Amino acid sequence: MANGLDDVVAAETVLSHVDGEAGRLIVRGYDLEALAGHVTYEQALALLWSGIVEDGIVEHAGGDLAGARVEAFGRFVPLLQAAPKLTPIETMRFLLSAVSDADELARPVAMVGAIAVAAALAIRHADHKAAIAPDPSLPHAADVLRMVRGRAGDDAEVGALDTYLVAVIDHGLNASTFAARVVASTAAGLPSSIVAALSALKGPLHGGAPGPVLDMLDAIGSEERAEAWLEAALDRGERLMGFGHRVYRVRDPRADVLKGALGLLKGRDNRIALAEAVEQKALAILARRKAKRRLDVNVEFYTALLLEALGIPRAGFTLLFAAGRAGGWIAHVREQEKTGRILRPQSRYIGPMPMAAA
Ligand code: ACO
Repeated sequence: MANGLDDVVAAETVLSHVDGEAGRLIVRGYDLEALAGHVTYEQALALLWSGIVEDGIVEHAGGDLAGARVEAFGRFVPLLQAAPKLTPIETMRFLLSAVSDADELARPVAMVGAIAVAAALAIRHADHKAAIAPDPSLPHAADVLRMVRGRAGDDAEVGALDTYLVAVIDHGLNASTFAARVVASTAAGLPSSIVAALSALKGPLHGGAPGPVLDMLDAIGSEERAEAWLEAALDRGERLMGFGHRVYRVRDPRADVLKGALGLLKGRDNRIALAEAVEQKALAILARRKAKRRLDVNVEFYTALLLEALGIPRAGFTLLFAAGRAGGWIAHVREQEKTGRILRPQSRYIGPMPMAAA
């Protein structure tokens, strides 16, 4: 048995399919490239949730979502003073933990709004900046960008964030989605399933990599230093952040979608030349040093560059990932709940047996 459950199929889903050999991601019958950059987050949500999640999302996603942001802001802001020493993602987890099953915010659309507001509040709180109230007249991505940065984005910036949120909306049975489904299978309800998912996303091996990608680019500094720095990091036994994936054996298709969105943000300091140089060097070094395992760029590498170019603080990257993945988590929760069966695998006991009586 692989100790990472690599080959275990733990759920059937109509939501998304990750083809790791072909480098293809299908979301509800569409290739990711046909969605990200072409539809808004609200439209992607309507597609992903159609027939799975209640709430009339198809007709009313925009309005409900905006109202939910306003409701969540009013509820969460007073709680912030009780979270002074928490990291941003811990603050987000804390805020979402306050949502009861009986709460209006526990409805699916409301949860998407609540997750986005919790992310924005937690990011600003960590920087000791005042909370920015939502503007319900704005589309979701535009308002999220405004609430995080404190200033509105132009069309290119809002389009880039929309592309990002859609690009990460769902991705098969990744660790956080699996965690959500396990908790959902016990009939624990949506808020608890979401808090479980967020907790899984917190780790650097899943959602926490994009901040460290920028740390790596900072440390490398210039193209000439890339090779020596990368070799030294591997000599120290470190992993290169933004590379490798449990399922993809080729390039993560989301990486190119995000790189394309980054290219549209002309005139920003997007460090794309340095990133491309580091990518090329890293791929060559990994191919030589880790010849047994095909390692390529994953979603986090260009996520880091894109969110940095949008002026999002790096401590907030994972939180925005959660804001995008929220749509997928919620759909998986409802899909799992419909099976009506608890997820309960077996373990194989390898410990000592009781001594036979003398
Ligand atoms: N840098 C260097 N070596 C790596 C990397 C990497 N980024 N990723 C895997 N390897 C190596 C391992 O050291 C191991 O080598 P070894 O056999 O010589 O010991 C081999 O590849 C296989 O590693 P596993 O641990 O089996 O790979 P796994 O499928 O469990 O890991 C993971 C996938 C966690 C994403 C890994 O590639 C990694 O740690 N990457 C860096 C962190 C990162 O970018 N995370 C974001 C992932 S995308 C997301 O979750 C949204």
